[in-house]
Amino acid sequence: MAFIQTVINRERDQLEPALPQGLRELYDGDLWFRESPAQRPLVVANFVSTLDGVASYGIQGHAGGSTISGSDPADRFIMGLLRASADAIMVGSGTVNDTNPKSLWIPDYTYPDAKLLYAQYRVSVLGKSKYPLLVVVSGSGKLELERAIFQTAGVPTVIITTPAGEDALAKAGAMKLPSVQIHALDAEGGIISPLAMLRLLYVQHGVRRLLHEGGPTLFGQFLAAEAVDELFLTLSPQIAGRGGDAIRPAIVQGTKFIPETAPWFQLLSVKQSAEHLYLRYRHAESQK
Ligand SMILES: NC(=O)c1ccc[n+]([C@@H]2O[C@H](COP(=O)([O-])OP(=O)(O)OC[C@H]3O[C@@H](n4cnc5c(N)ncnc54)[C@H](OP(=O)(O)O)[C@@H]3O)[C@@H](O)[C@H]2O)c1
Repeated sequence: MAFIQTVINRERDQLEPALPQGLRELYDGDLWFRESPAQRPLVVANFVSTLDGVASYGIQGHAGGSTISGSDPADRFIMGLLRASADAIMVGSGTVNDTNPKSLWIPDYTYPDAKLLYAQYRVSVLGKSKYPLLVVVSGSGKLELERAIFQTAGVPTVIITTPAGEDALAKAGAMKLPSVQIHALDAEGGIISPLAMLRLLYVQHGVRRLLHEGGPTLFGQFLAAEAVDELFLTLSPQIAGRGGDAIRPAIVQGTKFIPETAPWFQLLSVKQSAEHLYLRYRHAESQK
């Protein structure tokens, strides 16, 4: 991995470092998060985008974030660090379906070179469980249950779905999967409210820090619900372009704002490694 260098850091220094020294060196600085707001987890999102704002090529086999980042090692390292920092990681079914079936959303899998550093930080410093909980959101319950995320002992997964989705999952045998828990929540037109999901995770799973990894459809709904506190955005130095024929989503798809309601963000830090930029923003409403 090329060195990560901090270009701008507007985070206030804390008395005690949060990251162990090895991770502070690799990240070129410390990584602090605020306490969760009352009654819901702190929601921190992480995306990678091209210079022209494309988050997915939408081409089978090349739809994922790694095509956008060019499998950039520093992006993988930061993704692993954010995963190691989180109680739970949330993804929508569209993102799951476009990922390698063997993928696991755990720090070791994300950037194996830092496996020991992540484990020391997560378990010894943060006092968290070995692996973050993976939360998959699917209204329909149409999920490929043979995927590693549903089959790996010791790596817990929660599926948030609708009552109809729960029936579909039960028929497919999901209730027999030992590492999987299913929660059915009411939905309007198949859409479960983001705040209901956050309340469930806060109350039933003790989630205080949630890493939101999209995709663009799910993320847009969380933004509209004013339930996003931070955004980590890797800017990858390529241009994907768009034709009139194909959808190439940006980091938000299916939700649109007007100037009066569009969320604004404050820049917290800028890091750089080779040609990539790593931006950290805080939602302007979460400044207190
Ligand atoms: N560049 C990046 O950083 C990045 C990050 C993430 C994803 N991506 C890419 O983005 C693409 C996926 O985009 P996407 O927007 O289609 O995926 P998505 O947001 O991950 O998934 C959409 C699906 O999630 C479920 N869902 C979302 N909101 C829901 C709600 N409120 N209630 C119930 N179910 C809900 C629905 O599943 P059901 O249809 O099952 O009901 C919906 O079809 C993939 O190609 C992925 O690789 C890129």
